[in-house]
Amino acid sequence: MAKVNHNFSNDFCPQTLFLYGTKKEDGTPDFGLFCWFSYIHTEAEGGAHLGVMACIGEDKLTKDLVRKNGVFSANLVTEKLLPLADYYGTTSGRNTKDKMKFMPTVEQGKVLDVPTIAESPVTYELKVRKEIHLAEGSDLFICEICNVSVEETLLDKSVPFIDRLKKASPVITCGETTYESIDGRYFGKWGEPRKKLTEK
Ligand SMILES: Cc1cc2nc3c(=O)[nH]c(=O)nc-3n(C[C@H](O)[C@H](O)[C@H](O)COP(=O)(O)O)c2cc1C
Repeated sequence: MAKVNHNFSNDFCPQTLFLYGTKKEDGTPDFGLFCWFSYIHTEAEGGAHLGVMACIGEDKLTKDLVRKNGVFSANLVTEKLLPLADYYGTTSGRNTKDKMKFMPTVEQGKVLDVPTIAESPVTYELKVRKEIHLAEGSDLFICEICNVSVEETLLDKSVPFIDRLKKASPVITCGETTYESIDGRYFGKWGEPRKKLTEK
């Protein structure tokens, strides 16, 4: 097997997608799409346990509100949610006053004051424990998981995990700016699935 040097990239690190939900000053929600999200073990209320790290790039409304509120939700993106998620990921909350003209069913977090998405089968409620500045326009938020809500049927351990994962139908993205299902179906490039919404 011959290996050749390649540009630095994350092409072979598929990531599931999450919609981060934050509350604006007037109490209404903002959602943005994120994939630089993974698990860590971290300091938390009642002793260290599973947490998450979220890398937020250049300045954006989500980053402003995560800093201001110190809390946010992360909602797993499913195939059904993809058009809306793609729209949220390609529309700036700072520059688009009516970004939230398309809305999922928004619910209040169960333990934190954060907006969550009813249609998402897995929702994390997160509290920022530490912010680490990494580079120009790149900041890492180390978060405590304060609550996880999971659609009941995904917790039925009599069903093999892989089947429950397929049922959850998360969308993944790799470095090549495309969306795929976990079983390899192609859903288009970033910026394409949203056309289903706006063409309605
Ligand atoms: C597939 C996809 C994944 C993204 N992942 C991230 C990410 O991990 N970190 C980040 O800072 N921005 C990411 N973005 C960009 C944000 O979603 C985008 O800046 C959006 O405008 C954020 O919403 P806001 O402007 O309301 O804060 C991603 C965009 C797409 C399309």
